[in-house]
Parts: sequence; C-alpha cells; structure tokens
Amino acid sequence: MSHHDERTFVMVKPDGVQRGLIGEIVSRFEERGLKLVGGKFMQIDQELAHEHYGEHEDKPFFDDLVDFITSGPVFAMVWEGADATRQVRSMVGETDPAESAPGTIRGDFGLDLGRNVIHASDHEDEGANEREIDLFFDEAELLDYERIDAAWLYEDEDH
Ligand code: RTP
Ligand code: MG
Repeated sequence: MSHHDERTFVMVKPDGVQRGLIGEIVSRFEERGLKLVGGKFMQIDQELAHEHYGEHEDKPFFDDLVDFITSGPVFAMVWEGADATRQVRSMVGETDPAESAPGTIRGDFGLDLGRNVIHASDHEDEGANEREIDLFFDEAELLDYERIDAAWLYEDEDH
C-alpha cells in the first residue's frame, strides 16, 4: 500500500481564511480521495515565514510575501494519497491566478499574483513536501488511519 501514502503540505493563506474558503478547499481534496492526516489553524511568525519562503529571500517580492503570510491566520494541512504532491499542485493551478485554468483553486478563487489563496509543496522541488511537513508539524500531529472508502479509491486496495 506504499504508493498510496505520499504526503504533501498544503496551506490556506491569510486571504483564503479571511474570504471563508477553508471549507471549500478542504472539500476539494477530500472529494478527490486524498486523506487528511494533519491540520493546524495557526499564525505564522517572522522566523517561520523566513524559513518557509527561504528560497525567495533575494527576490524583490520577498518582504511583501513575508508581510502577507504573517498578516493573519492560516490553515496548514498534510494530505496523503497516490502521487499527492503532483496531484495537489495540479488542483491548485499556476502561481498567478490570472494564468490559472478555471477548475483549479487559484483559477476559481483568485485574480492577483500576491493574493493566490493557497500554498502547496512544489512537486518539481525534490523533498519539498517532506521539508515543509517537518517545518510545520511534529510527527505526533500526523495521524495514521484508513479512509473507509479506500477500497473504492484504489483498484489494488483490498475489499
Ligand atoms: P507558493 O509557494 O506560495 O505555494 O506559490 P508557488 O509555489 O506557486 O510560487 P513561488 O514561486 O514559490 O512563489 C511564492 C509566492 O510568492 C509570490 N510571488 N510574487 N511578484 C512576483 O513576481 C511574485 N512571484 C511570486 C506569490 O504569491 C507566490 O505564491
Ligand atoms: Mg512555492
């Protein structure tokens, strides 16, 4: 069952929380068949913001990005399933909501690059999912359980 257990990190950003989109976003991943294994409603401090977005430290938009991500509560999550990191990114859309297809989260709920509603681990950045999970969650906060519909989500899952 090992290929069903890839984990990825997802976060509803402060704009998504303020706009009441947590439930809608959680529903999309649940309905896709991904399994929620961790969730935390929290406010990101300066130190965590700098660590999480460290790859962008030298970019001109870095200070605005840190100000925004620390500006209000976020809802951090870990989702598990086959090919989870890549599948979640495809559901999220492009970095810029204006370039994101309808049907994607950013394409349905955003218009502005700096207010793109959701973060998800980059599937092209090897190990980013595990690094971000470790940054936001303790191992004990990630729960191990079976979805009751697992046998109907995967052909090779036992009935
Ligand atoms: P995220 O990390 O937030 O999930 O977004 P992403 O992978 O799609 O995009 P990334 O390249 O990691 O950029 C992080 C966030 O920085 C803002 N950004 N602004 N002004 C700009 O040119 C610019 N480019 C990126 C976006 O809000 C993006 O989500
Ligand atoms: Mg990114």
